[in-house]
Amino acid sequence: MNTNNLSVVVLAAGLGTRMKSKLAKVLHRAGGLTLVEHVVQSAAQLTPPERITVVVGHQANEVQAELRDTGVRFIHQTEQQGTGHALLACRESLHAAGGLVMVLYGDTPLLTPSTLQRLVDWHHKRQVAATMITTKLDDPTGYGRVILDDLGYVRAIVEQKAATPHQLSIHLINSGIYLFDAALLWKYILEIKPDNPANEYYLTDIVAILNRAGHQVQALEIKDHDELLGINTRVDLASVDAIIRNRKTRELMLSGVTIERPETVTVDAQVRVGADTIIEPGTRLLGDTVIGEDCRIGAGSIIEDAILGDRVRVAPMTMIESSRLGEDSRVGPYARVRPGSDVGARAHVGNFVELKKTNLGEGSKANHLAYLGDSEIGERVNVGAGTITCNYDGVSKHLTHIGDGAFIGSNSTLVAPVTIGDDAYVGAGSVITEEVPPRALALGRARQVVKEERAVRK
Ligand code: UD1
Ligand code: CA
Repeated sequence: MNTNNLSVVVLAAGLGTRMKSKLAKVLHRAGGLTLVEHVVQSAAQLTPPERITVVVGHQANEVQAELRDTGVRFIHQTEQQGTGHALLACRESLHAAGGLVMVLYGDTPLLTPSTLQRLVDWHHKRQVAATMITTKLDDPTGYGRVILDDLGYVRAIVEQKAATPHQLSIHLINSGIYLFDAALLWKYILEIKPDNPANEYYLTDIVAILNRAGHQVQALEIKDHDELLGINTRVDLASVDAIIRNRKTRELMLSGVTIERPETVTVDAQVRVGADTIIEPGTRLLGDTVIGEDCRIGAGSIIEDAILGDRVRVAPMTMIESSRLGEDSRVGPYARVRPGSDVGARAHVGNFVELKKTNLGEGSKANHLAYLGDSEIGERVNVGAGTITCNYDGVSKHLTHIGDGAFIGSNSTLVAPVTIGDDAYVGAGSVITEEVPPRALALGRARQVVKEERAVRK
């Protein structure tokens, strides 16, 4: 169906009082994305971004920053006087475009592009002024109720606060998704008055206004009402988040990923995982994380914005942020890989090892209790237990270089800036402050003293 002359408006200027939050409602996250991002993503699959207008008001700068890369346009609603008032703010810039105007609310993140497409197709079937999406909810509390006439056209939408007891018993609700004939919308929107207890311009009033002017409004009823859930409270936010997480783990499982106890696992929408990877209970895979095939992600691990090659083993309780793990590498249990690290293929990072901005070369091992920060570590290096890079002198950070094949004995203290050459050997317990040349043995500790029989007297 033709969607060429379609403008989409997303209303996202409200504070969302019922969230009881300092943060504007549409900036809260479900499934890892802000609510408004979800809505814009769905709309963008229907129409090019430059035809999408987002109405911003509360924390406008933050909302715009969040949508910076999407290509949508913004219009400011300086005072938040209701949904009708928010759409009115777009009248000047959009009314010349004509065609159709789709209105979406920024707090309805589960909407799918296919439903929006159905709305467009449905609208083209009959000569009506507007088509709106409705659904029947067991508990319609809080939503506007849809009043139909004998022919099934929409006569009016009544808000919860203004509804009579009889109207409150109606289960057919307004999802807040509408498609309008632009000419009629921009003409009749001017007639919306704030004549309700809240003193707001209700966009929903336009339905009765169009009816009075002799125009018809039809309803498209959707059976999957999950999709239409609007978020008003943090309880709603948690249910929507759970639905998005379920969709995501289901999609991964159907694509060949094993997830043990999926209800305990949190995976953000953008995360990608290769086939035959096993995800253990209680893990969190966040942000732009990409995980290869045949990996195992241990219970309780948290991986954010990280790239893992194939056959990587992350043992339980490991935290990895903004780093790369090469194929066949092993990390954890209880390891922490901080941003800017790169663990080479077949390298091992064992328990209680912390990496920060550190490249650990192919096949290198730091198996126990170490801190490696701001370090460039070559291939086949063995870092003994208790090794510390002293990368900070209280003022600035310094680098440690360790060459290929070097052996760093346990409990060594490498005071940066310092370089240890290829195949060099640092004796256990050394404090290394000067360069160690390739193949050299460095001992930076007091010599052991043995005094015969002295223990007996003590
Ligand atoms: C609205 C509908 C209700 C519908 C429900 C569906 C109206 C009057 N009511 O109620 O019929 O069942 O959505 O979820 O439209 N916004 C602005 N500027 C404003 C006010 C709101 O941009 O001045 C934005 C908000 O940021 C939000 C959206 O509009 O994204 C909806 O506002 P909200 O206050 O949540 O409306 P509801 O009371 O849920
Ligand atoms: Ca709402």
